[in-house]
Amino acid sequence: MGHAEFTLKDRVPSQRISLDEYWMPFTPNRDFKSDPKMIVRGEGVWLWNERGDRIIDASSGLFCCALGHGRPEIAEAVGRQLAELDFAAPFLRGHPKQFELATKIAEFTPGDLNRVFYANSGSEAVESALKMALAYHQARGQGGRNVFVSRDRAYHGVNFGGVSLSGLANNRRKFGNGMPGFFHMRHTHVKENYFTRGEGAHGADLADDLQRIAAMVGPENIAACFVEPIAGSTGCLVPPKGYLKRLREICDQHGILLVFDEVITGWGRTGHAFAAQAFGVTPDLMTMAKGVTNGAQPMGVVAASERIHDTVMAAAPEGAIEFFHGYTYSGHPAACAAGLATLDVYRKENLFDRARELSPYFLDAIYSLKDLPLVTDIRGYGMMAAIDVAPDGGPGKRGHLLQKKLFDNGLHLKTTGDAAIIAPPLVSEKSHIDLIAEILRKTIGSL
Ligand SMILES: Cc1ncc(COP(=O)(O)O)c(C=O)c1O
Repeated sequence: MGHAEFTLKDRVPSQRISLDEYWMPFTPNRDFKSDPKMIVRGEGVWLWNERGDRIIDASSGLFCCALGHGRPEIAEAVGRQLAELDFAAPFLRGHPKQFELATKIAEFTPGDLNRVFYANSGSEAVESALKMALAYHQARGQGGRNVFVSRDRAYHGVNFGGVSLSGLANNRRKFGNGMPGFFHMRHTHVKENYFTRGEGAHGADLADDLQRIAAMVGPENIAACFVEPIAGSTGCLVPPKGYLKRLREICDQHGILLVFDEVITGWGRTGHAFAAQAFGVTPDLMTMAKGVTNGAQPMGVVAASERIHDTVMAAAPEGAIEFFHGYTYSGHPAACAAGLATLDVYRKENLFDRARELSPYFLDAIYSLKDLPLVTDIRGYGMMAAIDVAPDGGPGKRGHLLQKKLFDNGLHLKTTGDAAIIAPPLVSEKSHIDLIAEILRKTIGSL
């Protein structure tokens, strides 16, 4: 591979930087380095490249920045925190903001999901939830429960537990066999629901795959069933009507924990704090990340039910560590400060209600694109949607080209395969939605 360089024209004098050393994640590195798409500044719903071109952020960064970019409340809170206390040992020591943020998060979570464990990413939150499920069953004398169930096309992060839960072929195929004891239900992207807005009428019975797996491996061996309430990364698969309720019933029938991975759906994307509330189904564990700090600091969270927490606590001898798990950066002071400032804005600006009110306008705009000949399906719920374009020359090729052309035409979003995922900041105005639809129409129309 040859040497690649890039000129930062926003610097005075302009500066050449080498592109060789940085190995980029989930990116075709050679393609990027031959045609770099740089972002140098962000404010509100806007991003800017190094030439000063303005780009609308149609996927909130990577589903993180619901409040838009450059929120001064968050920047100031993080700056103040770093000046006052930059780091506190997370084991055996605490600092007040960890506790304050946990209390605030618990004000938003459904049911009794009031016990909060910190990680640093969605992937780490998922690993923590896997361990919590095992620890809970051991604590109640059912240590034989070590099978996990998830779903085809699921994305639960990149660590080995999460990859084993994952149902995306490319995330698995180069990394061995995954961990044993992971089974997959079928995904819910059924033809009968194509172009349906919101929950589809067909496919609730796919939840019975959990019953089928339970019958095969023995329900007494299953620790937990992990699902994204709306499968996000694979392209916004909204659950069919009744599907999540059915999963909840089967879990209850067999003593299986239900885990919602709300890393994308959490913090207002559905028009409620969490998809659990939008769909009226309360899980036993819930993972979140991204929106908890508006993306300004890395943070992952597991919200656990009081029952799970109390069972794990009660099983350990007095004075013993109850859960042998944690990260050096669990509850980092700067991340907690960012989280507190973010949650404050969610509440003050009433953003979950705003998202619910803006959703019909947003979905109208996205579904208006269904007449484009290359569009093969559209799905959407709340402030999140996906458009499938017909593959061309192999899966994902046209999707990749689409996101590059969109960027050049002034719009940033995430594609997975041939699905373009649209999830604008919750602070977007109708005029921003109009612009997103206009650029999508022009760009998809030109493919
Ligand atoms: C549902 C879900 N779980 C886990 C993750 C992993 O999060 P992270 O990239 O912060 O590790 C993601 C990332 O998009 C996600 O969408």
